[in-house]
Amino acid sequence: MSTLEDLLAAAREAMSHAYAPYSGHCVGAALRTRSGRIYTGCNVENAAYPQGWCAETSALAAMVNGGECEVAEVLVMADGEGICTPCGGCRQKLSEFADPAIVVHAAGPEGVRASFTLAELLPHRFGAENLPRERD
Ligand code: THU
Repeated sequence: MSTLEDLLAAAREAMSHAYAPYSGHCVGAALRTRSGRIYTGCNVENAAYPQGWCAETSALAAMVNGGECEVAEVLVMADGEGICTPCGGCRQKLSEFADPAIVVHAAGPEGVRASFTLAELLPHRFGAENLPRERD
């Protein structure tokens, strides 16, 4: 089973691939799935700013492409001071594939700075259960 150290190392490696020429804010994300595998991603910016996407989104895409869909733990790493928690859109994307009780770590290159449950980051989430039932 992968450890927190494995997640940190994976996110650090992913962060080194960030494409962030506009914000200069390099982010790496590492997801551990229930199977114990780790999937990673970095942020990918674009000259047409809204077309860029976050590290968490990249990692989720890698996970789904790897044939998995159950996130068990998340670690997001960014340079600089303060804590880099997932943006609102990424909290919703993570929520599609994770139980509210999973832990999301916000880290700097030196280690974890803060940890939250997904429920703390996204209370009263909107999920498939909130959609109207399919009509017969
Ligand atoms: N970013 C992430 O990749 N993940 C987050 O959790 C927060 C923000 C990226 C998006 C953009 O490329 C840069 O950080 C500045 O917002």
